[in-house]
Amino acid sequence: MSQSILILPGDGIGPEVARAAKACLQAVAQLEGLEFTFSEAAFGGAGIDASGEPLPEDTLKAAEAADAIFLGAVGGPQWDHAPKRPEQGLLGLRKALGLFANLRPVKVFKGLEHLSPLKEDRVAGADVLIVRELTGGLYFGEKREGEDEAFDGCTYSRAEVSRIAEIGFKAAQGRKGKLTSVDKANVLATSRLWRKTVNDLSSQYPDVTVDHLYVDAAAMALVTHPARFDVIVTENLFGDILSDEAAVVAGSIGLLGSASLGASGPGLFEPIHGSAPDIAGQDKANPSGAIASAAMLLRYGLNQPKAADRLEAALEAALLHEERTADLGGTAKGSAFAHSVLAHIQKAQVMEPAQ
Ligand code: NAD
Ligand code: IPM
Ligand code: MN
Repeated sequence: MSQSILILPGDGIGPEVARAAKACLQAVAQLEGLEFTFSEAAFGGAGIDASGEPLPEDTLKAAEAADAIFLGAVGGPQWDHAPKRPEQGLLGLRKALGLFANLRPVKVFKGLEHLSPLKEDRVAGADVLIVRELTGGLYFGEKREGEDEAFDGCTYSRAEVSRIAEIGFKAAQGRKGKLTSVDKANVLATSRLWRKTVNDLSSQYPDVTVDHLYVDAAAMALVTHPARFDVIVTENLFGDILSDEAAVVAGSIGLLGSASLGASGPGLFEPIHGSAPDIAGQDKANPSGAIASAAMLLRYGLNQPKAADRLEAALEAALLHEERTADLGGTAKGSAFAHSVLAHIQKAQVMEPAQ
């Protein structure tokens, strides 16, 4: 049975990294005997250029009908003052599809500790899953924007906190059994509700150890002791900020993939980086985050764990053994690095009969 993948290339480096991810998906599909149908739609700045809307109606329909959605990145200075910004399209898509859970895994691979700007002994063994709430908080609160005053409201309900905390608890059960809830309960009412809700749930997960950190302390601990974390669960804005910071612990923001999942329906898979207008169109972008997102699409979006394992292994091997892109101190163009990953995908096939 064929599975449908909608690709939203988006803006800036989005189309470059989406091309790399698609090539990897096609290669693993062929080797694993899977049948994927790909389609593309305009989104973000490209959507604005095509139809005046960052999330055109046809794109939303195609997204709702797909088995999984892959996004490159959206945004760019040319649309910063447009009546609707490209980023609104992304927020609209997350909300429309109910994608409340955003998983952002950060791992410092053995042998690649030197890629981190931090000291190698500090980052060794770091393996953190950030579980970011994605459809609530300041991003989606009441807003007023005047010339002299502006307002962003932050609301969280117990139900919203519970459902994301449950994802965090369950993820911790499948990992090292440690959940760190990050909030600002010393100042924010929403954070106090957050903390109470997490604590109330914890009795249902006796095998998970819970601790709480304020977001400012968590930001510090991520760079001083990243290996102290297993799963972090946090609200929308804190998760956005902490995940860029955590990505760099592993070496570059170009490494990190993500999965945005709802209670049902298709998931959205995208690297955590943006459209990087400063390097767009120069074949400099690291496609690793996009490829890692493609692996998450296989695992969480299409329930194809074997294909996901194969792609993740090929990406890790290419990062270990091949020339890396400039953000990781290498000289490889983005497309050349993507070819290295493709070569490792094929190599895994040659080795298979011997196992
Ligand atoms: P950014 O992530 O695009 O770039 C930050 C820095 O990281 C830049 O120096 C960039 O060159 C570098 N970088 C990012 N991805 C890289 C990659 N794959 N390989 C090598 N280097 C990479 O963030 P920004 O500059 O703050 O934002 C640019 C635009 O992207 C804005 O319009 C912003 O709103 C948007 N944005 C979109 C998404 C998304 O689509 N999911 C995420 C973040 C930002
Ligand atoms: C991300 C991005 C988005 C966010 C922007 C582009 C709306 O930074 O996916 O991390 O803040 O969620
Ligand atoms: Mn972000």
